[in-house]
Amino acid sequence: MPQNRKQFLQKSLAGLAGFGGLGMRSLTQSDPKKGRLRSNQTQKPVVVSTWIHGIKANEVAWKVLSEGGSALDAVEFGVKTAEADPENQSVGLGGFPDREGRVTLDACIMNHEQQCGSVAFLEHIVHPISVARKVMEDTPHVMLVGAGALQFAESQGFERQNLLTEASEKAWRKWLEDSKYAPVINVENHDTIGMLALDEEGNLSGACTTSGAAYKMHGRVGDSPIIGAGLYLDNEVGGAVATGLGEAVIRSAGASVAVELMRQGYSPQEACDEVIARIIRKEKNPESLQVGVIALSKDGSVGGSAIHPGFNYALQSNVHANGMIDAPHLFDQ
Ligand code: GLY
Repeated sequence: MPQNRKQFLQKSLAGLAGFGGLGMRSLTQSDPKKGRLRSNQTQKPVVVSTWIHGIKANEVAWKVLSEGGSALDAVEFGVKTAEADPENQSVGLGGFPDREGRVTLDACIMNHEQQCGSVAFLEHIVHPISVARKVMEDTPHVMLVGAGALQFAESQGFERQNLLTEASEKAWRKWLEDSKYAPVINVENHDTIGMLALDEEGNLSGACTTSGAAYKMHGRVGDSPIIGAGLYLDNEVGGAVATGLGEAVIRSAGASVAVELMRQGYSPQEACDEVIARIIRKEKNPESLQVGVIALSKDGSVGGSAIHPGFNYALQSNVHANGMIDAPHLFDQ
């Protein structure tokens, strides 16, 4: 028999208690100043995106949404700002390369009709998100990778470009001196722009794009192009995007779990908290990895949560001027 909402929540909280309460905050904690947002109001349009680069991305997305444009255009045009910014070393142009000095990009996009497109391990193209949209709209497939993704991009008129900026090459050469792969919480992991939007029609879309973990193994693909991990949405319910160590997000099917929890009645905040709590429970070394998740429900409510302090996201709506919100964290050192 399916468990009801209360039984499910009790079970989750019992799971947390079983963890001994060690290293974890209670899911029932509610502190709006620390980003626990609750709203049952239907508000649209709304746009929300990860990290500080979300502010600029939201501005572009908001222009689309406030002029009655689609959530799909809003998220594509919004995240393109981060992809095109050479100062942003975790997305698109100027992204940190892999250990061989090659910039390889991952991105995916999803619309309100449950259509999605994705590219992974794509080189030389500044806007992988637009290639992902082309995969969604102009091919019978969902995902193209590597040389095939590049071939498709060029066939669609995207131009090759050197994505390795002088600054990122210099950082890579410095890294080569020791060649240690040791992701640093909230420094290296200011990765990924993930964006969710709800338009005036009440339709949801989402986008996620990254150059992935700095100095990753050549060929490594993270969560960001994987529908259900880095991004998922269901127009009947809501959407979610993740950021942080992609391997942990993939292992937990982060974004799809958040959406399924919202389907069962969790608020976006509760859903994000539960995804993060599960990652803390299941990962071997939660103390040394960061994951952040944000979610947007069909009624325009927003939530976000992370393992460690430092994760924030940008929110803009008719009742919230474009600004940053610090997400609560669930792991206590
Ligand atoms: N979350 C981005 C990555 O791990 O590649």
